[in-house]
Amino acid sequence: MSLSFDFTNMMAGALPRGAGITEAQWQEAAPAFARAHAAVHARVHDLGFLTLATNTALLEPSLAVAARARGRFDEVLLLGIGGSSLGPIALRTALCPLRWNELTTEQRGGHPRLHVLDNVDPATIATTLARLELARTLVLVVSKSGGTVETMAQYLIVREALATALGEDTARAHLVFITDPEVGALRTIARAEGITTVDIPANVGGRFSVLSPVGILPAALLGIDVQALLAGAAHVTVESQHAALAANRAGAFAVLQWLADTRHGRRVHVLMPYADPLRDLAFWFVQLWAESLGKTKADGTSVGPTPLPALGATDQHAQVQLFMEGPRDKTVTFIGVKGRQGQGPIPARHADVAELGYLGGHTLGELIDIEQRATAGALAARGQFNATLTVDTIDAWHLGALLQTFMLATAYAGELYGINAFDQPGVELGKQFAYAMLGRTGSEAARAEWDALPQPDPRWAM
Ligand code: PA5
Repeated sequence: MSLSFDFTNMMAGALPRGAGITEAQWQEAAPAFARAHAAVHARVHDLGFLTLATNTALLEPSLAVAARARGRFDEVLLLGIGGSSLGPIALRTALCPLRWNELTTEQRGGHPRLHVLDNVDPATIATTLARLELARTLVLVVSKSGGTVETMAQYLIVREALATALGEDTARAHLVFITDPEVGALRTIARAEGITTVDIPANVGGRFSVLSPVGILPAALLGIDVQALLAGAAHVTVESQHAALAANRAGAFAVLQWLADTRHGRRVHVLMPYADPLRDLAFWFVQLWAESLGKTKADGTSVGPTPLPALGATDQHAQVQLFMEGPRDKTVTFIGVKGRQGQGPIPARHADVAELGYLGGHTLGELIDIEQRATAGALAARGQFNATLTVDTIDAWHLGALLQTFMLATAYAGELYGINAFDQPGVELGKQFAYAMLGRTGSEAARAEWDALPQPDPRWAM
């Protein structure tokens, strides 16, 4: 079981035309990283994600709820948004057989399907509810704050549907809240109505919560090996105790992306797994990197790389042209897989047709790996920064290792950029404006600011 990281193609020696991080820059970054490392690990009590993987007491409530639910539900409906939904989606896509929700109960080993409502588009919610047999559905309401508008609106609609279909008492038994141990509307409702609740530790924020009950409870319900998931994350956490860059992969990833951005103008950070099961990991990473690092500093300057998800080989026919010849403002991190499932030879048919004949006898695994290496090499040959993370296989251990690597890297990068990676003040104003328009008490100041905004100008509208 291992995770390797090859960043040769980020470095000056491998890239032409003066591109690439120089050895001097890499050496000079070591003290900055040592400071970032010390700052992150000094906050071990405050940054809950650092200890989630070894917190066995935290695991118990999720396992208990999953055990009680076993055999009673065919469907799990998860309500949540942002960090409360992206992690569970990434876990399902990576660790359940592909197209999980299309499999029969037998093919799913008796485990339920997982549907995630991560938006308030009425069409999606109506369609999803119409297709579910509510008597066989467990609803997880996931919100750290316990009051996020989208999740609360979903909850009100789904709770009503449950009550109508099953009656109030039975409806309550189909609900589990995953939320803060003390505060928030969900906690208040749960206390008043005796609804089963699983705690998200107070010191774990949304986008760092995938290894808390936010991800672990849905994963346990789906039959994912949560112990292995946490063991992979724990392995990386142990490695992360090293303050030396050469021994800390998460640190190396953070420093490379930071140097590429701040010294070389490579401010768009692409994550490009070459594996369908890791497609949603890239979307999870986007939220983690964007919401954590896109900030205004105390001196008023703005920082933050722009993360971009991609999928190999699919995006070779969509985005790679841009990565090769577009603005020289990107890094690409590939995720490769050594051992792939479903390997069989490509049939040796049409041997006399040049476009097909050479494929016979190779496997699809070989093809996708070779395409990944070819793309990395092509980008390097044109001076485009890239690196490759490789896992032995896609399983719970390796996914845990990847998730923890990216979370640690984000915390380190926050220190390197000189910002707080754990807040998101920039989303507040839009929220307040929405509250004001919906008439929420306490949003009068936002209403006044909203009303003072310029009205649409007929010259600039058509
Ligand atoms: O990372 C974050 O903190 C946010 O993206 C939250 O996950 C998102 O806003 C949802 O918040 P909550 O879990 O409180 O409903």
